[in-house]
Amino acid sequence: MIQVEQLQFSYDRHKAFIEDLSFDVPQGEIFGFLGPSGAGKSTLQKILCGIILRYQGQVKVLGTEAKEHGADFYEKIGVDFEFPNLYGKFTGLENLQYFSSLYKKKPLDPLPLLDRLGLREHAGKKVSAYSKGMKMRLAFVRAILHQPELLFLDEPTSGLDPSYARILKDMILEQKQAGRTIILTTHNMHDADELCDRVAFLVDGEMKALGVPEDLKCQQAGVEVHYRYGGDGTLKEGRKKLSELHQDAVFMENLRKGSIASIHSKEKSLEDVFIELTGRKLL
Ligand SMILES: Nc1ncnc2c1ncn2[C@@H]1O[C@H](COP(=O)(O)OP(=O)(O)OP(=O)(O)O)[C@@H](O)[C@H]1O
Ligand SMILES: [Mg+2]
Repeated sequence: MIQVEQLQFSYDRHKAFIEDLSFDVPQGEIFGFLGPSGAGKSTLQKILCGIILRYQGQVKVLGTEAKEHGADFYEKIGVDFEFPNLYGKFTGLENLQYFSSLYKKKPLDPLPLLDRLGLREHAGKKVSAYSKGMKMRLAFVRAILHQPELLFLDEPTSGLDPSYARILKDMILEQKQAGRTIILTTHNMHDADELCDRVAFLVDGEMKALGVPEDLKCQQAGVEVHYRYGGDGTLKEGRKKLSELHQDAVFMENLRKGSIASIHSKEKSLEDVFIELTGRKLL
């Protein structure tokens, strides 16, 4: 679906921002760009969906170089921008009807989608009176209405409360089940961990790691075990890597004596791994 090779881009003529970036995205994958603010996530999305054209290197999307796409490309992709560009003077429904009219393909009925995202009762209201979360939800519906085969979602859950974020994430997973390919930009590691088949860690325009979230978490130093032991009223605490626990004499002795009071394993989060690999926090 996407092949990027030696991509270079700079906003400033004198300083490269993205240098030598390469990656592929196969069909049917949810591919995440995870990185802190300013990492270049939205910039990359704009290059992939043909908004920024003056890049160097190869960026093939649906088999054609991104800067050479014609109008038919926009029939096949759906884009949810970081800042939803909707018409404030139109109602929510009018916005969807207008954008649907730009496509040759017959769009989905918007009402069930609006209903699911809590917007049906607001469909007749002008978008200028929508909250940020409502605009985000409407922009997501707009992105999927013409059933594109490739979806670009830039921070689709930002500004959403947990219950709408959950519904929207379920809808993203349904898009994947329907065979669509999804590029998801986020600085939310929980979303990246849950949704993405593979995730790229981006910092300052550079890809610091790329892999399956579970693999990235396992590669890094492994799981640590915390245990408490003793039996005479005061419990002591021990810590050991899970892979070395069988060599921990104190743990093994207390296990034999039946005096281990509790054991907890502390798996690394994707954020722990991100910090270890990039030296940067996500927020
Ligand atoms: N139109 C522009 N002109 C000049 N510099 C820009 C432009 N757009 C973005 N930048 C700069 O490029 C860098 C990357 O911006 P980008 O919007 O891609 O980051 P991001 O990872 O999406 O961040 P966020 O999580 O805040 O959305 C930032 O330093 C930003 O200031
Ligand atoms: Mg952004």
